Amino acid sequence: DNYCVIMGGGIGSRFWPFSRKTLPKQFLDFFGTGRSLLQQTFDRFQKVVPTENILIVTNAMYADLVKEQLPEVSEEQILLEPARRNTAPCIAWASYHIRALNPNANIVVAPSDHLILKEDEFLAAIEKGLDFVSRSEKLLTLGIKPNRPETGYGYIQIDEPAGGNFYKVKTFTEKPELELAKVFVESGEFYWNSGLFMWNVNSIIKASEELLPELASKLAPGRDIYATDGEKAFIEENFPACPNVSIDIGIMEKADNVYVSLGDFGWSDLGTWGSLYDLSERDLEGNVTLKCHSLIYNSKDNMVVLPKGKLAVIDGLEGYLIAESDNVLLICRKDEEHAIRKYVNDAQMQL
Ligand code: GDD
Ligand code: MG
Repeated sequence: DNYCVIMGGGIGSRFWPFSRKTLPKQFLDFFGTGRSLLQQTFDRFQKVVPTENILIVTNAMYADLVKEQLPEVSEEQILLEPARRNTAPCIAWASYHIRALNPNANIVVAPSDHLILKEDEFLAAIEKGLDFVSRSEKLLTLGIKPNRPETGYGYIQIDEPAGGNFYKVKTFTEKPELELAKVFVESGEFYWNSGLFMWNVNSIIKASEELLPELASKLAPGRDIYATDGEKAFIEENFPACPNVSIDIGIMEKADNVYVSLGDFGWSDLGTWGSLYDLSERDLEGNVTLKCHSLIYNSKDNMVVLPKGKLAVIDGLEGYLIAESDNVLLICRKDEEHAIRKYVNDAQMQL
């Protein structure tokens, strides 16, 4: 049977001041569609996985937000992490939980901060991918053709073809430095890691027990407790002791049975302001205005996002991001957006 694990516990700090710790980007509706990114992710997977087999894994502080946004999901389908430990512990817990429900499960693990513009192609790739991993011990990711040396993604170097759109992966490099990212993109051999993974439950448990023994030593002893009444107390006690590590660094960079499925799904990670800029409609000078109104003179390549109803008047500005949300106004160079993590950190008081 097919299961889906939606990871919705990140803070989305690079999207500050839109994304806040108390209301991260996955719970926001960026383009006014009426559905948040999390809801859109759920809607999409409901088309290929039975609703009752979709699990949402998130931080305990977002329990109410998830219940409110996804009333069709039962309490048993929401796994609440008592601490932030990044994606490897999140995925390991979900995998043990699913194995207790169904030891033959195939799982698609999905982030909750993506946009998919070509849904049919995407769903077809998920179905093929789940079939691919059901038959063997493979860890599969969806790969995306890169169009810029983005340093916020993982890079996958492909090796020999493995039939259809599948390729064996030669190397996996999570978030390289800019110079390396440029070399990767120019070589034509590298793809972005979409952050969307597929495997059968036994393959991922085996990989995490082999490659992250420290993590496994905390969660594996609960073998008989998962999906029972004892699970909550076991997790409260053991989850916070798990190492803080992403699935990309903890498993995907190290495993030697990684495969990639290539395709064009109109994928976009709404990871940063830059990605939102790329997706938005620009005027002739490359300026993007979202939500508010603007009068722009002698300016190019700016992105202006102010609360609805505001008018921005801009003269002589190039390459800037101007974003206001709630009690914060951010003005910085668009190409310096990686500094946003620092701003958020320094502004802790105002989050
Ligand atoms: N439950 C839970 N717990 N979810 C988490 C946690 C956590 O501690 N941390 C992050 N998440 C969720 C986020 O909400 C997001 O949906 C997903 O896991 C991925 O985390 P991000 O923090 O957004 O990762 P990233 O964007 O920096 O990098 C990943 O995605 C890129 C593509 O978007 C990596 O997989 C990269 O290799 C990949 O290129
Ligand atoms: Mg992300």
